[in-house]
Amino acid sequence: MTTDALIARLRGAVGERHCLVDPALRASYETDWTRRFGGAALAVVRPGSTEEVAAVLVACRDAGVGVVPQGGNTGLVGGSVPRDGEVVLSLRRLSEIEPVDARAGEVTVGAGAVLADVQRAARSAGWDVGVDLGARDSATIGGLVATNAGGVNVVRHGAMRAQLQGFEAVLADGTVLRRLPGMPKDNTGYDIGGLLAGSEGTLAVITRVRLRLVPTLRRRAVCVLGFERAADAVEAAAELRQRLGSVMALELFTDAGLELVLRHTSLAAPFTPRTAVYLLVEAATDDADPADGLLAAFEALGLHEEAAAVASDEAGRHRLWQLRERHTEVMNAEAIPHKLDVSVPMARYAELVERAPEAVTEVDPTARTIAYGHIGDGNLHVNILGPAPDATDVDDAVLELVVSLEGSVSAEHGIGVAKVDWLERDRGPETVAAMRAIKAAWDPSGILNPGVIFRADG
Ligand code: FAD
Ligand code: MLT
Ligand code: ZN
Repeated sequence: MTTDALIARLRGAVGERHCLVDPALRASYETDWTRRFGGAALAVVRPGSTEEVAAVLVACRDAGVGVVPQGGNTGLVGGSVPRDGEVVLSLRRLSEIEPVDARAGEVTVGAGAVLADVQRAARSAGWDVGVDLGARDSATIGGLVATNAGGVNVVRHGAMRAQLQGFEAVLADGTVLRRLPGMPKDNTGYDIGGLLAGSEGTLAVITRVRLRLVPTLRRRAVCVLGFERAADAVEAAAELRQRLGSVMALELFTDAGLELVLRHTSLAAPFTPRTAVYLLVEAATDDADPADGLLAAFEALGLHEEAAAVASDEAGRHRLWQLRERHTEVMNAEAIPHKLDVSVPMARYAELVERAPEAVTEVDPTARTIAYGHIGDGNLHVNILGPAPDATDVDDAVLELVVSLEGSVSAEHGIGVAKVDWLERDRGPETVAAMRAIKAAWDPSGILNPGVIFRADG
């Protein structure tokens, strides 16, 4: 099929208005959030229904042209943007949010529904969404499922796969798979929805999702504690997680990251004198002020003499959270960052925090390393500022260290294109062969997100 014939079929599938070929209109879909990854698309198509998604996939399959599914384009590993002439399939128009099923505590939404909108809908019905993250105003539910996103409440509610109660998805040949009744117990054959979670657009295009909701907890308290050693923050996080049933989030950042946040925003330090490492704890309950429980736990753990800032009111909590959440935008403001999202067993976490900057400066003495992350999940975001966007030696040095600590090269962002060379190093050839067999069975023509997770030529 010629390119013109494919464009004509895509226009026929989604309507002229929703098939973008003009470079100026395509531009915002062609570069990722970090600006490190991107390429030209043949076209950007914006289907308005599951049937239109199926028609686009069949046209691209017939033409042998790759398809890059895209939600909010907030992914950080280059999986949501074209590499070389693929069709970008934007799911954002599938943004319907059905009424909350209050009795079941579930909601069915289109893949393009934005997380913050779903949170608002859930909260207005007395429920909440189990996953929350800094990209909530742009990230879509389809993208969150496709990456099995984690975020700040994994210690309490698990990652996105744990929220999935049902799905609708379209295979590369246009077949629609649908299972949306939403029963928490449903062991009838393989867990297809569970497999779609974390598949990064390589197995099927997710069009609808049924989410389990969690109870709204109205009383919240946030505390930032200061430490001189990462090992002490790890110890405190582990104790708090075990002793305090109200823990919602356990986050880590360092003074190097705080310094940049203070430089780029109007925020103030949580306390002075500043310390080397900070632990942010959020606790939530539905009755008593959770600050009381937090302070009692600090007392029991002998942490009452540590540097600390506590807030129960909404503005104060928001201020403390901003110190952690704004790290991501600040990295972008400084440079085009190399973002390495990794996890290690908790026993090695402090070692990773200490050794990652050393591993980086060994290969690039001018590079700056800023680490922050979800300490409660053993997840650290190692950001490297300075190296050229296409340099890989600093990335390799950090991932080498992570593998030597028996960690994972991707904790919550996925493999994307950024880490394709590390998949086999991390998982081993047998596991990668099993993954490839699944990919070949579901997408035999290989049109779904080629080059993501697996190297395209492999
Ligand atoms: P996109 O970026 O558009 O796509 C991501 C991947 O999913 C791509 O491979 C794409 O092809 C695929 N995809 C998208 N939609 C579909 C679909 N409907 N069907 C099939 N495949 C699809 N991530 C975390 O895990 N935790 C965090 O705490 C976190 N915080 C962040 C904070 C900021 C400020 C930013 C910018 C990003 C953050 N992220 C975080 C990363 C990002 O938000 C998540 O990966 C999110 O899940 C991506 O959703 P999206 O809709 O933007 O997907
Ligand atoms: C975070 O936890 O802030 C996100 O995963 C984004 C990032 O890694 O910068
Ligand atoms: Zn994160």
